[in-house]
Amino acid sequence: MEKRGEEEEEDGEEIVCIDRSFFINDDYQLTTFTFGSQVLQLFCLQSASTDFDLTGQLVWPGAKLLNNYISQTPEMLRGCSVIELGSGVGVTGILCSKFCHDVVLTDHNEEVLKILKKNIELHSSSESTEKLEWGNSHDLNQILERHPEGFDLVLGADISFNSLASPCFLILCNSFSALGISGTANSCWLMYPEPKSWMPWLSVKLLGMDC
Ligand SMILES: C[S@@+](CC[C@H](N)C(=O)[O-])C[C@H]1O[C@@H](n2cnc3c(N)ncnc32)[C@H](O)[C@@H]1O
Repeated sequence: MEKRGEEEEEDGEEIVCIDRSFFINDDYQLTTFTFGSQVLQLFCLQSASTDFDLTGQLVWPGAKLLNNYISQTPEMLRGCSVIELGSGVGVTGILCSKFCHDVVLTDHNEEVLKILKKNIELHSSSESTEKLEWGNSHDLNQILERHPEGFDLVLGADISFNSLASPCFLILCNSFSALGISGTANSCWLMYPEPKSWMPWLSVKLLGMDC
């Protein structure tokens, strides 16, 4: 196996420090996606690792479903301001930017944020990226400082799954709540390929938002 990083000898034992990049695949391929009449090209992987939570390096089935829905009902988004949670490579937010007046794409993973920014540059579109870890009040406050008017719509495709026990569930609620209280977000579209993912839906309903 190839060794990367520093190698040291200590008490006769060899210590091998393997750089983080050893585990990260960033060999992104330019891939074409078609949603109705909209054709998007984006850099992404065809499979991803969960080891460093790199699930955002590829486009998930939920995003394809949501994008097909958006492409069929673009008038619902016209003129809206949108924030997307867990944007991954940005396929949903970038499609929204064709219809919305303000789109903020977010993710918590630094590696994913890099490819997200690259895809936004590729489209030279006006949307922005922000680091947002669900429930992180510092991240949220920074976004709300830059967007004090809040958002009309919160979007999420294939984010946080259905277990009540999952800490993500509660953290996600907190994110919606903060966006809703400080802003005007009164609608939330969540897309999952499996109907059993109803927990995030319930959380949003309990917060009084349309979902
Ligand atoms: C399954 S991927 C879905 C990506 C994209 N929405 C799609 O459907 O193609 C989940 C995304 O949520 C992000 N994510 C996971 N946990 C998160 C957290 N605690 N805070 C913010 N983003 C998170 C991941 O980095 C990843 O981009």
